[in-house]
Amino acid sequence: MPIIRQEYRQDFEDIREVIEEAFNQPDEADLVEALRDGEKVIVALVAEEERAVVGHILFSHASIDGSNAKVAGLAPMAVLPEYQNQGIGTLLAQEGLDECLSQGYDAVIVLGHTDYYPRFGFKPASEFGIRSEWQDQIQDDAFMVLELHAGALDGVEGIARYADEFSELI
Ligand SMILES: CC(C)(COP(=O)(O)OP(=O)(O)OC[C@H]1O[C@@H](n2cnc3c(N)ncnc32)[C@H](O)[C@@H]1OP(=O)(O)O)[C@@H](O)C(=O)NCCC(=O)NCCS
Repeated sequence: MPIIRQEYRQDFEDIREVIEEAFNQPDEADLVEALRDGEKVIVALVAEEERAVVGHILFSHASIDGSNAKVAGLAPMAVLPEYQNQGIGTLLAQEGLDECLSQGYDAVIVLGHTDYYPRFGFKPASEFGIRSEWQDQIQDDAFMVLELHAGALDGVEGIARYADEFSELI
């Protein structure tokens, strides 16, 4: 089983390699660095197997217009191709979501695979009356929200925004 732990500066190069291999392009690794530089990171974890970084997940500051809800944006997450489908992504997501809850966050947004994130409790954001700022560019149900505690989004509606650094990627 991998160890899931916080990322440290000495992991940064390994993390870039993991993300680039998983996505087959440098854009998401560039985004991670931009989020660190912009001090937008809430939680960043690595999965380590035999002292090597094999997975990474990051949560950054997000918001919902007109609301004080404390919202985290999940992205990116990556597991080295040869380590995928072994539950490492699940461990990273669960640990990261627990950490967001313990830091007092109310909800997490994600733009991603509709058959992956519901296993963690994510639901289509449209069920909450929440839309992505990129709604016209994405598949409708790919934008999802997780309430970290019951009723966290009661009365909250509107446009959800990832940190500005994401606009470079989209
Ligand atoms: C998505 C990712 C992080 C999952 O990590 P993982 O360690 O393989 O995940 P787990 O082993 O916990 O879960 C495996 C499940 O993820 C599903 N999955 C993996 N990649 C998927 C994809 N592109 N679309 C939908 N589901 C995917 C598998 O089908 C499997 O489903 P099952 O449990 O129903 O069989 C990993 O596949 C990855 O790095 N992919 C490339 C980068 C990426 O797409 N990141 C997410 C951006 S939204």
